[in-house]
Amino acid sequence: MAYLTTAPRGTKDILPSESGRWQYLESTLLRTAARYGFREIRIPTFEHTELFSRSVGDTTDVVQKEMYTFTDKGDRSVTLRPEGTAGVARAALEHGLLGDALPLKVSYNITCFRYEKPGSGRYREFHQFGVELYGAASPAADSEILALAYHCLKEVGLGSVVLEINSLGCRECRKRYTQALIQYFDRYRGQLCGTCLERLEKNPLRVLDCKNPEDQRIAAGAPSILDYLCDNCQEHFREVQARLTEAGIPYRVEPTIVRGLDYYTRTVFEMVHTSPNGERVVCGGGGRYGGLIEELGGNPTEGIGFAMGLERLLATMTAEGCGFPPEEPCQVYLASMGESAGVRAFRLASLLRERGISAQCDLMGRSLKAQMKYANKLKARYVVVIGEDELQKGEGLLKSMDTGETTPVRLDEGIQIP
Ligand code: HAM
Repeated sequence: MAYLTTAPRGTKDILPSESGRWQYLESTLLRTAARYGFREIRIPTFEHTELFSRSVGDTTDVVQKEMYTFTDKGDRSVTLRPEGTAGVARAALEHGLLGDALPLKVSYNITCFRYEKPGSGRYREFHQFGVELYGAASPAADSEILALAYHCLKEVGLGSVVLEINSLGCRECRKRYTQALIQYFDRYRGQLCGTCLERLEKNPLRVLDCKNPEDQRIAAGAPSILDYLCDNCQEHFREVQARLTEAGIPYRVEPTIVRGLDYYTRTVFEMVHTSPNGERVVCGGGGRYGGLIEELGGNPTEGIGFAMGLERLLATMTAEGCGFPPEEPCQVYLASMGESAGVRAFRLASLLRERGISAQCDLMGRSLKAQMKYANKLKARYVVVIGEDELQKGEGLLKSMDTGETTPVRLDEGIQIP
């Protein structure tokens, strides 16, 4: 029976008392991105499974271990999206958005699904805010995306975030780097986990983001990708950094960042917040992807973007004491005694709501005393009591719940609430 009253492991209800914070966060992020020209795109919750194995990469943890994949009634394999980049790329191709005025800039607020071990901000259903920019190969585009990532976090009150950046180079750099990794890890064959041994054959870069502590220790001594960048990739990375420095955006080069998804080329990054007790919190990450659109059958088109996990972001904001706008309270509670007064309270509430004022009246048949108690619970700013006398006079008293002050108020179309 617990299944009927307990949400599945790794999922979380967002209760009415919390949803205001979510609305604030999501709208602030969308609005900040809109200042850079990003417009919202909404994509399906599930896609053909192949989309993710092709783009995210079939040797990644996400594809190998974490996808919610099932066969639907039409015998098709579909997957609940583990992230947004692949779906957005598919939509851009399907609707010919990459032939329009470039760069294409889109933003999204989505739920994602990964079968992960829940804990420390990890869920099986979680929320991401993300952006994707297509068509610009220049370091200027990287800097703009990095600036937006920083700006988003600053806008919600996390001003001390640092961008940790790295470059994964182009296909050529990667080829040389992969050789160096194979040579390095070969020496540790006896100590690597089974998955990593497989990865060493199929995609050695993935060994670097194994979560197994012993493998991580070995990976710490691996060669750095930065020593294998070709001249063009080096120049690109230098230019990105010069622009960040010029714009005063805090960043640090972190050669160990490889990211857990396969589509990245050149610039990759994570947005890192350090809590007062020294804990490193990754609020989000992203990077450039050169081959993704081609992999999905389109013309070669550069893309770059990032996504942040909203659960972790909200938890960090709360821990850091970031401000949230107060919930809009009930402006006026129309208390009533007797049936005719109840009908009038309802009419006046409807009138006020149409004028954009939040108003509530009794729906429970409560006594006046109980209605006043309820108005207090709602933190109503004003209360009007409507009884027989008030009905006859067409006038009542508007009481401020803050000061206790009362002022006369009309109980017809002429009603005015401050
Ligand atoms: P990602 O690093 O896999 O990148 O995910 C981005 C963020 O989503 C993470 O930094 C984290 O905050 C959050 N996240 C990931 N998994 C979970 C989870 N199980 N529970 C809670 N939060 C989670 C991507 O998804 C790329 N699509 C980002 C991107 C966009 N790259 C280019 N464009």
